[in-house]
Amino acid sequence: MATPIKDVVLDENRPKTLLAEKHADFIIKLFHSEDNYEFAITDYLRMSGMYWGLTALDLLHKRDKLLRVDLFDFIKSCQDPESGGISASLNHDPHLLHTLSAVQILCMYDKIDILDIEGVVKYVASLQQPDGSFSGDKWGEIDTRFSFCAVATLSLLKRMDSIDVDKAVKFIETCKNFDGGFGSRPLSESHAGLIYCCLGFLSITNRLDIVDRDTLAWWLCERQLPSGGLNGRPEKLPDVCYSWWVLSSLKLLGRLHWISSTDLENFIMACQDGETGGISDRPGDVADPYHTLFGLAALSLLGYSNIKMVNPTYCMPQEVIDRLGLKPQVLA
Ligand code: FPP
Ligand code: ZN
Repeated sequence: MATPIKDVVLDENRPKTLLAEKHADFIIKLFHSEDNYEFAITDYLRMSGMYWGLTALDLLHKRDKLLRVDLFDFIKSCQDPESGGISASLNHDPHLLHTLSAVQILCMYDKIDILDIEGVVKYVASLQQPDGSFSGDKWGEIDTRFSFCAVATLSLLKRMDSIDVDKAVKFIETCKNFDGGFGSRPLSESHAGLIYCCLGFLSITNRLDIVDRDTLAWWLCERQLPSGGLNGRPEKLPDVCYSWWVLSSLKLLGRLHWISSTDLENFIMACQDGETGGISDRPGDVADPYHTLFGLAALSLLGYSNIKMVNPTYCMPQEVIDRLGLKPQVLA
């Protein structure tokens, strides 16, 4: 039986060029909206939200438009002196996801020394389990996205020696499925977001050899729909963030050319909000910093001019990865 396709139709009057100035203004406005309701209720994801916004701004060559001296004080105050981990915001529990976001921001600004780095390393290492997997925090949820967060953080800090890398790779291997994809845990279904996490993990650990390259690349290129957008799993609607999760994965596999870049570019352009700026998951939806970053990062991978080159493993400007001397694996 054929797989049912869910898709959207692009409006003739959709935006067709990149609204870079508007996107920069959209992000800057978010950083100055402490008093509004949306800001208050997104406290639990503040650190990652700052990473999405600041990276988007940097990719647009507009980092200098946002000069907030309190940014680094805020990040420093989110490091828990006991565990060493970093939380989303003040008075929240530390978590691997926000620890990675904080380290990514500080690497971009060349300010990593404001952290207690030994504390971060101790925190990440403390979350590795006997089977090699990682829990996201002290409450114990296991997920391959946390394996990625752990090695991304430690590699940016040049402290991969603090964990058992071979065991961590073995755990990722147990999450590989018959279709070449990866899920969140052993026997979980393949999901493009988690495929990115597992390929990113294998790129950092230089173990992309364990991937069933063309089986997985085929599954990934089948995510493209007639609208040009990509979905994260069969039978799902297209969503701009999957432009990143799928495309970066294809880039790591050396198979970027297996999808139509023109069609994907059209879809991402159509998801821009011509009034407020920013990019949403699908045309006509409300824009947010998460989809703005992943839309721009995907355009960067497609070679779009006026956007800085992004690194497919870390989703950070390539110039930062070069400055740090990191060379994550990418298949030719
Ligand atoms: C979709 O989630 C996305 C993922 C599962 C990948 C998340 C990746 C990380 C947390 C690692 C950090 C990433 C970077 C770029 C540094 P979802 O829950 O929205 O999935 P759904 O679309 O199926 O609801
Ligand atoms: Zn999305």
